[in-house]
Formats: sequence, C-alpha cells, structure tokens
Amino acid sequence: MMELPSREVSGVALSHDVQSQPGEIRIDPMTPGDLPLVLAIERRSFPTPWSERAFASELRDNLYADYIVARRGHRLVGYAGMWCILDEAHVTTIAVDPEFRGRGIGNRLLTALEERALRYGCRRMTLEVRVSNHVAQRLYLRHGFRPCGIRRGYYVDNGEDAIIMWRDRLDPPGPVAAEGDDAPPTGRDAGLQSGMEPATGAGAAPGGSEGP
Ligand SMILES: CC(C)(COP(=O)(O)OP(=O)(O)OC[C@H]1O[C@@H](n2cnc3c(N)ncnc32)[C@H](O)[C@@H]1OP(=O)(O)O)[C@@H](O)C(=O)NCCC(=O)NCCS
Repeated sequence: MMELPSREVSGVALSHDVQSQPGEIRIDPMTPGDLPLVLAIERRSFPTPWSERAFASELRDNLYADYIVARRGHRLVGYAGMWCILDEAHVTTIAVDPEFRGRGIGNRLLTALEERALRYGCRRMTLEVRVSNHVAQRLYLRHGFRPCGIRRGYYVDNGEDAIIMWRDRLDPPGPVAAEGDDAPPTGRDAGLQSGMEPATGAGAAPGGSEGP
C-alpha cells in the first residue's frame, strides 16, 4: 500500500510552491479551515455537492488524497483534488468560484495538480467529466487529456454518462500543444472521433456524484 509522501518532496516545498505576486493567484494545500469557503463554491458548482464530512474525510483520512486551493489575495477562488496511487493520479474534483471563471484559474489549478502528481511519482492522470460539460472538457483537452471511454449513467442526479479522459504523459505539466493542430477539437467531437468504448471498472472514480 502506497502512502503519499509528506508535503515536501526532494527538498522542494509543495506549500506555496506557486509563487504569487500581489493580485495574482496563489496555490496552497487545502486545510480544514478552508472548508466553509470550499463548500460555498462546491454548492454553486455541482448538482450533487460533496458534504463537509466528505471533504474532511478526504483531508484527514485518505493518505492517497491531495487537495489544493487557489487564492486571489485572501479570497479563496477555487480548489481541486486528486488521488495519487502508484503512478496514476485520479482527479476527483476541480471548481472555480463562478465570479472568477474564465480567468485562467482552472488552468492554474490543473497545472498545479499535474506538477504535484509528478512529484508524487505519478506519470499518468485520469478523470471523469459529464458529456454535457463542454467547458471542463475543453480545459482537459488543452492539458493533453484524451477521451478513452464512457461510463454509462455515471451521475446519480440525472443518469448522465461520464466521459473518461486520460493524460498519458504528465511532463511537462500545463497546457500542451495539440498534435498536428493549433486547437484541440471539443470534447464531444473528440470523443466521437476517437471511437470511445464503454469503460471497464478500472480507474473508477470515487462515485457518480462528483464526489466520494
Ligand atoms: C471547469 C472550470 C473549473 C474551469 O475553470 P475556469 O477558471 O473557468 O477555466 P480557465 O479560465 O482556466 O479556462 C481554461 C480552459 O477552459 C476552457 N473554458 C473556460 N471557460 C470557457 C467557456 N466559457 N467556454 C468554453 N471553454 C471555456 C477553455 O479551454 C480554457 O482555455 P483557453 O482559454 O486557453 O481556451 C469551471 O468552469 C468550473 O468550476 N465549472 C464548474 C465545476 C465543474 O464543472 N468542474 C469540472 C468537473 S469535471
């Protein structure tokens, strides 16, 4: 059984590791004290939000879990999390305060997860996304994730299917150039083009409600 390394790997501090200038975005590990603000964003972002207990349990009990927050000044504007198991990172959640969307914060959070996953020894990353969530799919495509399967009826609130996406090579972290093109196709188009097959049980997410 693998245990996540401490918050410091190879002498590189993971806390405050994305340096910030005044007015810029800073990435920090999520702490229990962040949960009220995290939950406020969570409830505005997902039809079946995680409970405070679920987040607290992830922070306290799950040795595989790594959760971060994005702050602008003192304001918490987004968060994301993943499970790192052996060489695979599984993104469990990512959300940005609706008032701050479209300003690159989701991109920063995903890049930070990728950097941290690499330091934890992960080489691949996976996630699930609703077939209707084209904004998130576009973010993932820009980061080199590719659709490779469908979980039928995965989301419990409306029975919507999930697209399973994988990024096979994590380095370098951050957005990557699309192969042979300047812009990647949209998630739905990309999924259709790739001839996705129904998923097997491998790599299943914590649950069909976008949370554990
Ligand atoms: C998905 C989410 C985290 C993106 O965060 P964000 O801060 O708005 O995203 P960014 O500003 O960093 O944009 C990153 C990319 O997302 C895509 N994107 C963002 N806003 C978009 C929009 N309105 N329309 C289309 N694509 C959009 C783009 O590809 C963008 O990259 P680009 O500007 O280089 O093209 C945010 O929309 C969110 O919190 N949604 C609700 C929760 C959710 O659906 N989470 C994902 C669950 S799988």
